[in-house]
Amino acid sequence: MIDKHTVALVTGADRGLGAKFVEILLAQGAGKVYAATRRPVKDAAHSVDRRIVPLLLDVTDPKQVEEAAGIAPDVTLLINNAGVNFQASALSADQPEHARMEMEVNYFATLSMAKAFSPHLIAARGAMVNILSILARVTLAPMTSLCASKAAALRLTEGLDAELSPHGVRVFAVMPGAIDTDMSRGYEGDKLSTDDVVNATLAALDGGEREVYVGQMATGVARMLAADRATIQAQIIGVSPTSAD
Ligand SMILES: NC(=O)c1ccc[n+]([C@@H]2O[C@H](COP(=O)([O-])OP(=O)(O)OC[C@H]3O[C@@H](n4cnc5c(N)ncnc54)[C@H](OP(=O)(O)O)[C@@H]3O)[C@@H](O)[C@H]2O)c1
Repeated sequence: MIDKHTVALVTGADRGLGAKFVEILLAQGAGKVYAATRRPVKDAAHSVDRRIVPLLLDVTDPKQVEEAAGIAPDVTLLINNAGVNFQASALSADQPEHARMEMEVNYFATLSMAKAFSPHLIAARGAMVNILSILARVTLAPMTSLCASKAAALRLTEGLDAELSPHGVRVFAVMPGAIDTDMSRGYEGDKLSTDDVVNATLAALDGGEREVYVGQMATGVARMLAADRATIQAQIIGVSPTSAD
C-alpha cells in the first residue's frame, strides 16, 4: 500500500511510464518520490510538489548509482523503470553495439541499482519493482537483443527475490505488453495506457504474486506458456484436455 511512509525512487522519471509512476505515487499519498533522470528536468511539478526530489542518475554510471544511494538512504520502494529498446534483430547491422547497450541499461544497471539500494530496502523491509516486459518470456525476432536483456533481468529479479525475501524485501517482475509511450511509437497494435500499467503495478505490491503480467497480451502469453502440450492442443481443436489425449 502506498501511504505517507512510502519513499519511492523511480528511474527514468522524465517521461513515459516513469513520469506516470511519479504522478500516481504522489496522487496515492507517497511521502516522498525521488524522480531520477539522466538529464536535469525543468518540470513545474517539481517546484510545486515538495514531495518530489529530483535526482540526476544515469543508471549505467556506477559512480552516480553509488551517489544516489548515498543521497536517498530512506528509500522504501525502488522502481527500476529506465530501459532502452533499439528494435534490433539478432543479425541487424548495429546489433553488437545495440545489444550491449540494452544489456547495460536493462540488465547490468538493474543489478547495480539492486546492489546499491538493497541495504536501504532491507532496513525498511521495503520492495523493489523491476519493469521488464512480456518479451522477457518470449522472443520477438525483430527485437531479439531487447528480449535477451529482459530475460536476463527476469532471471536476476528471481534471484534477487530469493536473496532478499528472507530479509523482508519483496522483489517484483512487472511484465506488460506494449505501452503507449515513445518506446512503442512505431507499433500499430493495441497498447496499454501508462495509467493502467502503473495502477496494476502498485496494486500488485499488496498481493503475493512476484510476476506481474499487465494487459491481455501479457496475461495471454503467460497463460499459454504455463499450459502443457495437451492443454494447448485441446485449445486448438476446441475440446477438453482429457478428451484430447
Ligand atoms: N513502451 C512499451 O511498449 C514497453 C513495454 C513493456 C515494457 N516497457 C518497459 O517500460 C520501461 C519504461 O519505458 P517507456 O515505455 O516509458 O519508454 P520511454 O518513453 O522510451 O522512456 C524510457 C526512459 O528510460 C530512461 N533511460 C534510458 N536509459 C537510461 C539511463 N542510462 N539512465 C537513466 N535513465 C535512462 C529514459 O531517459 P531519457 O529521457 O533521458 O532518454 C526514459 O526516461 C522500460 O523498462 C521499458 O523496457 C515498455
